[in-house]
Amino acid sequence: ATEGPRDRLGRPLRDLRLSVIEACNFRCPYCMPADQVGDDHGLDAASRLSFDEIETLVRGFARLGMNKLRITGGEPLLRRHLPRLIERLAAVPGLDDIALTTNGSLLAGQARALRDAGLRRITVSLDALDPALFASLSGGRGRLDDVLRGIDAAVDAGFGPIKLNCVVQRGVNESQVLPLVAFAREQGHVPRFIEYMDVGTCNGWRRERVVPSAELRDSIHARWPLRPLQPHYRGEVAERYAFVDGVGEVGFVSSVTAPFCGDCHRARVSADGTLYTCLFAAGGQPLRPLLAAGDTAVAGHVADIWHRRADRYSEERGSPAASRRHVEMFLVGG
Ligand code: GTP
Ligand code: 5AD
Ligand code: SF4
Ligand code: SF4
Repeated sequence: ATEGPRDRLGRPLRDLRLSVIEACNFRCPYCMPADQVGDDHGLDAASRLSFDEIETLVRGFARLGMNKLRITGGEPLLRRHLPRLIERLAAVPGLDDIALTTNGSLLAGQARALRDAGLRRITVSLDALDPALFASLSGGRGRLDDVLRGIDAAVDAGFGPIKLNCVVQRGVNESQVLPLVAFAREQGHVPRFIEYMDVGTCNGWRRERVVPSAELRDSIHARWPLRPLQPHYRGEVAERYAFVDGVGEVGFVSSVTAPFCGDCHRARVSADGTLYTCLFAAGGQPLRPLLAAGDTAVAGHVADIWHRRADRYSEERGSPAASRRHVEMFLVGG
C-alpha cells in the first residue's frame, strides 16, 4: 500500500534513516565527545538487529510507502559484512533510493563492494580540509588523507557526485568553508553546509556557535555567484543553489534558522531496533520484539505509531513545549 499512514500533522512516512551500528571510530566533539563517550562504547553485538531482522524491518516500512532508505551509524562501515546487508535491502520492493552516510575513513577499502551490492549514493562528512583541524574535529582519531582517499575510491567505484557534509561552528571551522567549496568544485562533489544543532545531550551546544546558512550563502556568493535551485522533491532537507558559472551546486541545511519540520517525512531506527519519530525525540519505541512476527506486523505497528506522531522540535526550539532530553545523535546517525 503506497497510500501509507499520515501523522497528526498530515505528513506521510517516506524516508527511513537506519543505523546499523552505534559505535564510531571518530569522536567528533559535536556528536560523541571523547570525554563523555568511552572507547568501549557500543561493543555489544548481540544488542544489534541481525541482517534478517533488518530486512524484515525495512520490508515493513516499505509497505507503508517508505521509498528512501539511508544507512547510518555511528560509523556504518564498522558493521561487519555491510555489503551483504545492502544487497538484501536493494532487493526490497518499493525502495527507489538507498544511500549511506559515512565519515569516509574506511571507505577506500569498501567503496567497490558497496557499489557492487547495489548502493547508489554516498554522503561523506568532511568538516575541514586542513589536516590538523580535521584531526582535532574527529577527536584526534581521524586522518584527512584516509577520508580523501575514500572519496576518490567512491568516485572510482561510480558513486560520483558525492555529497560532502560540513557542520559549521563559529570560531572553529568557518575558515574551511571557502576551501571546501573550491575543493568540491574542482573535484565535482556537492558541498553541503549544516548548521550546528543541539542534538543529543553531551555536545554543550551554544547558539552563538551556530553560523546561519544565510551568512555562508552570502560569503560563497560573493566569491562564486549562486542562483537558487528548485527542490528535487517535497521536503528536501538541503536548500540547493547552483553556481552561476555552471560548475556544480552547493546545499545548506538550516534546521536552526529555517526549520523544515512541516514536510518532515523521516523516521529513524537505531541499531537495536528502536524507532524515533524525530531527530530530537526524548525516547523511542522498540520494534525488535515484533520482528519475529514478520513485515506485515511491523507495518501495522509502525503505522499506529506514525498516526500519533506530532514531532516538530526544530520549530519549537527554545519554547517551553520543546523537550529537553534528546536521543544521542550517534544512535540515530543524523
Ligand atoms: P538526501 O536528500 O537524500 O541526499 O539526504 P539529506 O539531505 O537528508 O542528507 P543527509 O542525510 O546528509 O542530511 C544532512 C544532515 O542534515 C544530517 O546529517 C542532519 O544533520 C541534518 N538532518 C537530516 N534530516 C534532518 C531532520 O529531519 N531534522 C533535522 N533537524 N536535521 C536533519
Ligand atoms: N549538528 C549538526 N549536524 C550534526 N551531525 C552530527 N552531529 C551534529 C550536530 N551537532 C551530522 C553531520 C554528520 C552526520 C553524521 O551527522 O552532518 O555529517
Ligand atoms: Fe562518528 Fe559521525 Fe558522530 Fe563524528 S558525527 S562521531 S563520525 S557518528
Ligand atoms: Fe523532522 Fe524532528 Fe527534524 Fe523537525 S526536528 S525536521 S520533526 S526530525
